[in-house]
Amino acid sequence: MTSFEPRACVIGHPIAHSRSPLIHGYWLKELNLNGFYGREDVLPENFATFIGGLRAHGYVGCNVTLPHKEAAFKLVESASERAKQLQVVNTLWYDGETLCGDNTDIEGFLANLDDRAPGWSQRLEKAVILGAGGASASIIAGLKERGARDIRLVNRTLPRAENLASRFGPTVHASDWAGLPRALEGADLLVNTTSLGMKGQPELEIDLAALPLSALVTDIVYVPLETGLLRQARERGHPVADGLGMLLHQAVPGFEHWFGKRPTVTPALRALIEADIIGVTP
Ligand code: ATR
Repeated sequence: MTSFEPRACVIGHPIAHSRSPLIHGYWLKELNLNGFYGREDVLPENFATFIGGLRAHGYVGCNVTLPHKEAAFKLVESASERAKQLQVVNTLWYDGETLCGDNTDIEGFLANLDDRAPGWSQRLEKAVILGAGGASASIIAGLKERGARDIRLVNRTLPRAENLASRFGPTVHASDWAGLPRALEGADLLVNTTSLGMKGQPELEIDLAALPLSALVTDIVYVPLETGLLRQARERGHPVADGLGMLLHQAVPGFEHWFGKRPTVTPALRALIEADIIGVTP
């Protein structure tokens, strides 16, 4: 008789470049657990049917990524408070017969900074976030949870920033790029959530002169690991945290739901994914 093998996957479109199978595969082996984590390329028009048949496909749960995160929220029967706040889920599992969903990007973002810059949120009054997409929404929610009192949301398209800011109340102030120097004055944290600086994208051109040198600078872009923004910040003397840890930490809760043990983000896991990013096998 073969023993039950819990199976999970990441669902997206496209999905071929997802590093989630590498992360979960590493933990399964490290913790010596029976289990499997794969990829499923599912078109938006087939997503609801796929989720309806998730168990029939042999899965105990899944991650969902672009473009399915909003659709997944609408399909879960029990959503976490964080997921309800953002109307987005990226991690699904079953509690008995109930399909549950959480948004673990918030935890991923916060845990990464806790790891790379311990104590960062004790000095958090004012934060600047570049970009107003889905990642930005998760980060605003996380910073509000940690008590940020003044969040400046800076985006190329002002109405998009205003629209996002209005969902979070008076703590969050929207501006366009022209408002950046003012926003940086006195800030404790700067976060890039735009795609600028990512391999294959234009560089993020930014003058950090107005940012206090004590401010922590972080980027959710992790290819390359040290973006132009992080290099500039490091050379000026800012504490910096790269974006890879957010990817690693957001994976922790899903793994625990599906495979029953809470994994740890270790230097060895980081090294494995770093090697994959730069294209070498360790
Ligand atoms: P995600 O959901 O991953 O955060 P997104 O919704 O595509 O991604 O958002 C990308 C962000 O990068 C947006 O804030 C976008 O600005 P706009 O709202 O003005 O489009 C920003 N971005 C992308 N390319 C940019 C560029 N060339 N200059 C300035 N901002 C850019």
